[in-house]
Amino acid sequence: MAKVHQFDVIVVGAGGAGLMAGLYASRGAKTAVISKLYPTRSHTGAAQGGISAALGNYEEDKPEWHTYDTVKGSDYLGDQDAIEFMCNEAIEAVLELEHMGLPFDRTPQGKISQRPFGGHTNNETGKPVRRAAHAADRTGHMILQTLYQQCLKNKVNFFDEYQVLDFLIVNGRAAGVVAIELATGELHTFHAKAVIFATGGHGRIFEVTSNAYVYTGDGAAILLRHGLPLEDMEFFQFHPTGIYKLGILITEGVRGEGGVLINGKGERFMPKYAPTVKDLASRDVVSRAIYTEIRAGNGVDGKNYVWLDARPETINKFAALDGRLNPDGTPYTITGEQVLQKLPDIIDFCRVYLGVDPITQMMPIQPTAHYTMGGIPTNKFGEVVIDDRNTVFPGLYAAGECACVSVHGANRLGTNSLLDLVVFGKHAGLKAAEYAKNADWQNLPGDADAGARSALDALRNGSGKENAFDITVEMKKVMFEDVGIYRNEKGMRAAIEKVRELKERFKHVRVADTGRIFNTELLNAWELGNMLEIAEVVAECALNRQESRGGHSREDFPERDDENWLKHTLAWHTGGKTRVEYKPVTITKYQPKKRVY
Ligand code: FUM
Repeated sequence: MAKVHQFDVIVVGAGGAGLMAGLYASRGAKTAVISKLYPTRSHTGAAQGGISAALGNYEEDKPEWHTYDTVKGSDYLGDQDAIEFMCNEAIEAVLELEHMGLPFDRTPQGKISQRPFGGHTNNETGKPVRRAAHAADRTGHMILQTLYQQCLKNKVNFFDEYQVLDFLIVNGRAAGVVAIELATGELHTFHAKAVIFATGGHGRIFEVTSNAYVYTGDGAAILLRHGLPLEDMEFFQFHPTGIYKLGILITEGVRGEGGVLINGKGERFMPKYAPTVKDLASRDVVSRAIYTEIRAGNGVDGKNYVWLDARPETINKFAALDGRLNPDGTPYTITGEQVLQKLPDIIDFCRVYLGVDPITQMMPIQPTAHYTMGGIPTNKFGEVVIDDRNTVFPGLYAAGECACVSVHGANRLGTNSLLDLVVFGKHAGLKAAEYAKNADWQNLPGDADAGARSALDALRNGSGKENAFDITVEMKKVMFEDVGIYRNEKGMRAAIEKVRELKERFKHVRVADTGRIFNTELLNAWELGNMLEIAEVVAECALNRQESRGGHSREDFPERDDENWLKHTLAWHTGGKTRVEYKPVTITKYQPKKRVY
């Protein structure tokens, strides 16, 4: 029998969204945050370039422009009421982080420094605006540190290195979760009135990814198993610049500071694909451009990578050709010391992992699976909704990358992820605490941990014919190749068949480690089960959507088709079968237009 704990609100996950939710919930309710990691090791720490807000610290900017850029960036699939809500809250959210102590870089006047990012524009002139507030190239890391300190100050309860395995529902309401304590292998039941999932994305289903090892879609898979739907799972973002083969993120901030992409023939190719914004086109456009170059034989040495060039002499040459100016109207230039000061982490990564010094050498890069646009459907207060009428599931909330509000639609703009997790983490925390104040306790059954226990037992008692590591490698490869940047029916059908075969083989996995203490082999195998479920749903939703939009690019349906496909996908996965329904996109001010780059 598991140990039982009781809290009004349980937050699952301690990245930016989980910490923000925990902080706000704890002000009105007895709250605990459960995380499979030590909180400051969460994947939010990998977000580098900045958090978006129309602060206008260098030039004019407005929340309306931020809203419209986000709507356009989403390829019109984002819900415009939610996008407007997020962009209007952005300024206050960033100032709140500043007041909590986040060490943002500064302008010469002492304001928060901002840099350009893809798709951030002055809507009147079409020119880039500096909207990404940054702390060097460690913005996500600084958000984590700042929020964790605030949570400690506010006496939020933490259960670090507890992995949540199951969600408890009683009388159709959220009633808690079951988790395993990594250090002892003991199961714990967390009885709660409200549960907030902030469990992050599922980028580890792909072979080359910027995502942390822990990004295995646990929260989404757990809810899927309980019969809840997921939204827009076909939309996954490939970031243009991951370190070749390793996938580690090289921030878009490099191009924001003037870095350019160069093919194997030594040509700057982005002006061909996006004549106006060039290297700062949105991520879907840049990732496809890189792949098109590679397919045309223009990769470096015929391989599947190109160069990212951030050497000061290259930046200065192209800044002069593009007519780029400083805020005071003087020509934009940069020195090696300034590159180092603005982008210290990525320079370190390249020096350490590649032996390449970006101040004097070009960086080998390829697109890397980066961000989950779809996920657990919510409204803008973080309440989980379960159908096309947006019916709320009582006591259940989601925020951050595991959630689909939907503010990112078919393609997320850079730096809107950090904004999303701060804004919606806060509202999910507030709503959950308010709900918990008025809700009754639901009595848990005596065997509340039975589901979690039998899932682990199945892995301990399998036939042992199959190896979880081999299955993982095969899943990642087929998902990256056939459900990646470019997709077509033949490839996706093959991927679905392969994933189903892997799911069958997974039933015969038995973990070799029979110990209880830090049994990571057991938990990695359990995570593989989650990834296989998610991979199947992603591939099926992608096959189902017969158009190209944002990050979903079909060779057999190359155009966006608003007449038939301007709608969200809702997918259920029960009894091994995926069922798809649709939900309208909320359009308020901006009618869909063709995107111009
Ligand atoms: O390129 C980057 O720094 C990534 C930021 C983001 O995904 O928002």
